[in-house]
Order: sequence, then structure tokens, then C-alpha cells
Amino acid sequence: MWSPDSWRQKPALQQPEYSDPAEVERVLSELRTLPPLVTSWEILHLRAQLAEAAAGRQFVLQAGDCAERFVDCTAPRLTNTLKVLLQMSMVLTVGASRPIIRIGRFAGQYAKPRSTDTETRDGVSLPSYRGDNINRPEFSAAARRPDPQLLLRGYERAALTLNFVRALVKGGFADLHHPEYFDLDWVKESPLGGEYHRMVQTIKDSLRFVENVLGVRAGDTDRIDFFTAHEALHLGYESAQTRVVPRRPGAFNLLTHFPWVGLRTNDPNGAHIEYLRGVENPIGIKVGGSCTRDQVARWLDILDPHRSPGRLTFIHRFGARKIGECLPRLIEYAREEGGHLVWICDPMHGNTHATASGVKTRRFEDIYSEVEQAFDIHSAMGQTLGGVHIELTGENVTECIGGSHGVAEEDLARAYESEVDPRLNYEQSMELAFLIARKMKNGTL
Ligand code: PEP
Ligand code: CO
Repeated sequence: MWSPDSWRQKPALQQPEYSDPAEVERVLSELRTLPPLVTSWEILHLRAQLAEAAAGRQFVLQAGDCAERFVDCTAPRLTNTLKVLLQMSMVLTVGASRPIIRIGRFAGQYAKPRSTDTETRDGVSLPSYRGDNINRPEFSAAARRPDPQLLLRGYERAALTLNFVRALVKGGFADLHHPEYFDLDWVKESPLGGEYHRMVQTIKDSLRFVENVLGVRAGDTDRIDFFTAHEALHLGYESAQTRVVPRRPGAFNLLTHFPWVGLRTNDPNGAHIEYLRGVENPIGIKVGGSCTRDQVARWLDILDPHRSPGRLTFIHRFGARKIGECLPRLIEYAREEGGHLVWICDPMHGNTHATASGVKTRRFEDIYSEVEQAFDIHSAMGQTLGGVHIELTGENVTECIGGSHGVAEEDLARAYESEVDPRLNYEQSMELAFLIARKMKNGTL
């Protein structure tokens, strides 16, 4: 029998070890009494849109920080995140000629899986940093001690973030619809500059057309939706806001629209899959090269027994050098099980490497190459890539190498902020959106 806590009977990986279980219980009880962050009708609305993406009629842009930080819960940061997501989505609309579903990796992306439980520096070992919901990144025993109170601080910041996002979308954010707000200086460096400017002109013309025909200012409507997503990693936290709502069957995770399970916790026998099985939210599973036929069959049977389009999304992350070998096989497995999945390409997590000096980075060209191959493989197999999953920021960081402005390995030290994975900066994100739009246009128009 499933319940929000039935996962406790299964092995739960990647959970913090708290020193005071009674305090954890007190925090989770408090969390249970607080109002939800999202509603069941928003969740079902997203699920219906994802069903459209499964059928190739919509395209998903899922993007944001690898790990949100509490210190970044500020007006300028959130505005910049929304700006880059909105602008990318407009560029993608031109390329895809279909509606874009915007899903932020935000308002709760505060818990991270780690490959080792401890980190050692100069002979000192401390618990690994697991995201701001769990502990703090500074390398001291006090900062690294998992603190249950942080779950409440994270919940509050998620609420603040979502509140601001909703207000921006409803109100003064409309101006960002205007392409003159696009920062396109980097385009000068790109051999595709002319094409990018033409695309922006197309966006401008379409907006003017809409405004003239409908007599409304684009963006003055409520129709721009942003959904939220995070990795459903800390199961105590996730289950504390999982409940049955009035007049609707089933239980909902009311912390986010779209919870996903990461590669390290996606075992069909594990606690994370047990937890997700009982929620009505659409669910993402991160899948990689080692994924087997049996796992695919089990995920479908456990999470999507009715093969309901929009319920399940595979977010595949192989790496540019492996996707050609791994993706076709995975598509076959899913077909054999009769799945109606959304297929999203995460070109980030299979393309991470460390520089000679030990800095974690990714190459822009690998990222684009993986996306490009994903489009081609899905289409060669008679289906459509349903979206992309990108780690990015609206800030001018130097964490990934490459792109028109050419962030070089030597630049990485200049503005490297991420505590976990390297993100594309504003320009690299926009350039990626243009390249994807261009790819979609050549393929489908
Ligand atoms: C992530 O999305 O930040 C992540 C940890 O991904 P994965 O589970 O695919 O490694
Ligand atoms: Co990441």
C-alpha cells in the first residue's frame, strides 16, 4: 500500500545523516501544517501540456541552476533567471513552431546528490555539501553539519521565489517581451550573427502582429506560464507536503509541479521510486548509459501502469560521445513496453569534466553536439525530441568553456560561482537557444 511515507520501508540513498532525529520530526511536522507552494490544478495543467509534448505538439524548456543557493534569492537574480528563460523560450518558439512549456529548475532546487559522503581537504574529512536545504558549502564542521531547520528556510525561499515569479509574470515583466531587451552584443562574434538578428526580427514582428490583431500588449495576459521543477531527493521534505486534495483523486506533491528523480536514486527497488509512484504529478526520470531493459520495464510498470501520456518523462543524459550508442537502445526498450513518454535531452550531466587544475567544467560544443544528435536520433527513429534540460544562469559567470564569446579555460577562475555543476551564462544560453531553434527549423520547416 502506498502512502506519502511508504518509501520509509525501502532503501533510501543520498539522505543526510542528522544528529537529532527528533528535531527532524519536529521540522517535518511544522512543514506539514504550512500551505502548499503549488496547486493540483496547475500540476494537472502541466501534465496535460506534457502529454502534448509526448505527441510532438509542444516543446519543453526545462532550465535553471544546478543547485539554487539561498543567497541568490534576490530580486535581480530571479529577474535575470526569468529573463533568460523567457527569451530562450521565445527563440525556441520561432524554431519549433509549436508552444514552449517553460519549466524552471527553481523554487526548491536545494538538495543535491553527491558521489561521496565526505570531502577531504588537507587531511580533514567533513560531510559533503548536499545543497542549501541540508547544510552549507563552507568547509567547516559547523557549516557541513546537516541542519533540519534549513528545510524550513528552503521551503520559505521556495515560496518567496515562486511569489516573485508569479508577480513578475502577471505584472511589469511584460517589457522583457520586447526584443530590444535582448543583450545581443555577443552576436557580433558569431558567424551566425545575421541569422540570429533575423530571428529576433521575426519575434518582434510576431509580437507586433499579435498586439495589433488582439489589441493587447503582449505579456499583459496571464498566459505566460512558468512551472517549477526540482530533484525530489530529500524524501522526508517531499513527503511532508504530499497530500490528498479535496475533490480530486490521488495525492499530490505540492512543493513543485514537476519532481524528477536523479540518476543516483532512480533504482526501481529504491525509496525514491516508491515515493514517486503515488503522486499524481508528472514525473521525470534521469536516465544514463547504464540503464537496462529491465529498469525501463519496471519504471513503466511502477510509475506509469496505464501508459498515460504526460505522466512520465525520460530526461536522458549520456554525453556527446555516448548518446549515439545509448539513446537508440533506450528508445527501443521504451517502445517494447508501450510507453508514451516525453523525451528530454539533458546535454549537461554527461559532458562534465575537470580541467588540469581540477575545475569542473563543460564545453559548449559538447553540449550543443549532444542536443543536435538527440534531435537526429529521435527523428531517425520516427519520433520527436520533446525538450531540453539545461543548467544555466542569467548572470555573466564563467563556468562552461566555449560559445561565440569564447570563455577559455583561463577565464574559469574569473567568475565561477556554482557550488556544484558548471552552468551556461546568459550569452551561452541564448546562443544555445538560437542553435537549437536553427536546428529545429531546418529539420521541420
Ligand atoms: C542534476 O540534474 O543536477 C543532477 C544531479 O543530474 P543527474 O541525476 O542526471 O546526475
Ligand atoms: Co547538475
